[in-house]
Amino acid sequence: MANKRILFTGGSGKAGKHAVAYLVAQGHKVINLDLTPLDYPGVETMIGDITDSGQMFNILSGYGSFEELEPGTGVPKFDAVVHFAAVPRILINADNECFRINTMGTYNVIEAACKLGIEKIIIASSETTYGVCFSDGQVDPRALPLEEDYDVDPMDSYGLSKVVNEKTARSFQRRFGNDIYALRIGNVIEPHEYETLFPNYFKNPEVRRRVAFSYIDARDLGQIVDLCLEKDGLGYEVFNAGNDENGAILPTKDLIEKFFPNVPITRELGEYEALFSNRKIREMLGFKEQHSWRKYISG
Ligand SMILES: NC(=O)c1ccc[n+]([C@@H]2O[C@H](COP(=O)([O-])OP(=O)(O)OC[C@H]3O[C@@H](n4cnc5c(N)ncnc54)[C@H](O)[C@@H]3O)[C@@H](O)[C@H]2O)c1
Repeated sequence: MANKRILFTGGSGKAGKHAVAYLVAQGHKVINLDLTPLDYPGVETMIGDITDSGQMFNILSGYGSFEELEPGTGVPKFDAVVHFAAVPRILINADNECFRINTMGTYNVIEAACKLGIEKIIIASSETTYGVCFSDGQVDPRALPLEEDYDVDPMDSYGLSKVVNEKTARSFQRRFGNDIYALRIGNVIEPHEYETLFPNYFKNPEVRRRVAFSYIDARDLGQIVDLCLEKDGLGYEVFNAGNDENGAILPTKDLIEKFFPNVPITRELGEYEALFSNRKIREMLGFKEQHSWRKYISG
């Protein structure tokens, strides 16, 4: 069912603004909650801070626009919360600030949503949970492809905050019995970035080792969020959110030989199949990639 009323946190950011646009195009009513406004037709921003529990309870139980005053039937309920607001990596602020904002912010969002009876919550986790991206030195994953049953073990405060958030989500889901899905988002690519970033990625593939050559087109991420909104009854789930193939011109076999020669490979992989596997979203949610990098730039 489209036309859901959704509170989207972090909708003014890099990933959020494309996901919000996708959800609006599907017919959903989106209210953005962020520290800064989003300039997008039909989307109101409530300025709010996720680290303030009172604000989260208030905004999640309030009107989202002047138009919602018109029917005279009181405050409408949110059908879902999509939670993207965060400090999106290490080295923006102090490690403990990153951890505090991401973990307490996520706790507050999930707690308020659960206690207000909201049935669907989708949170942004990260491929950094697999413990390669922000590790000290060149680190191997324990196995490839990276799949959701991996025992995640990051050594940095950002990745750790996302692991904690997944645990927070699981705990609340268990208590409230609603649906909470965590998306381990790969490296987000905006439409203009195929041209600005990918030529360098092709020339120097080693710069992509830390993200296991992953990418997720920001619009395809919107599709994944929408599929999560449509799919009910899974309880707590974790999904990798990545595109079908690696963001690299080398075949997968060559990437493994060159960059991960000592890593056990747990299953057969397609010629260019992503090392950051999206098999689960394809099989469980019906994800169909629309924006392969090959559409926008030639190898
Ligand atoms: N960009 C990536 O490659 C990537 C990869 C994996 C996961 N993620 C995750 O996806 C989500 C979105 O990432 P992004 O790249 O769009 O980041 P971004 O920094 O561009 O956007 C985050 C948004 O959150 C808002 N925000 C930050 N602190 C807030 C607070 N206390 N209260 C309210 N709003 C606050 C910011 O104003 C910003 O608009 C994050 O959770 C991030 O950790 C991103």
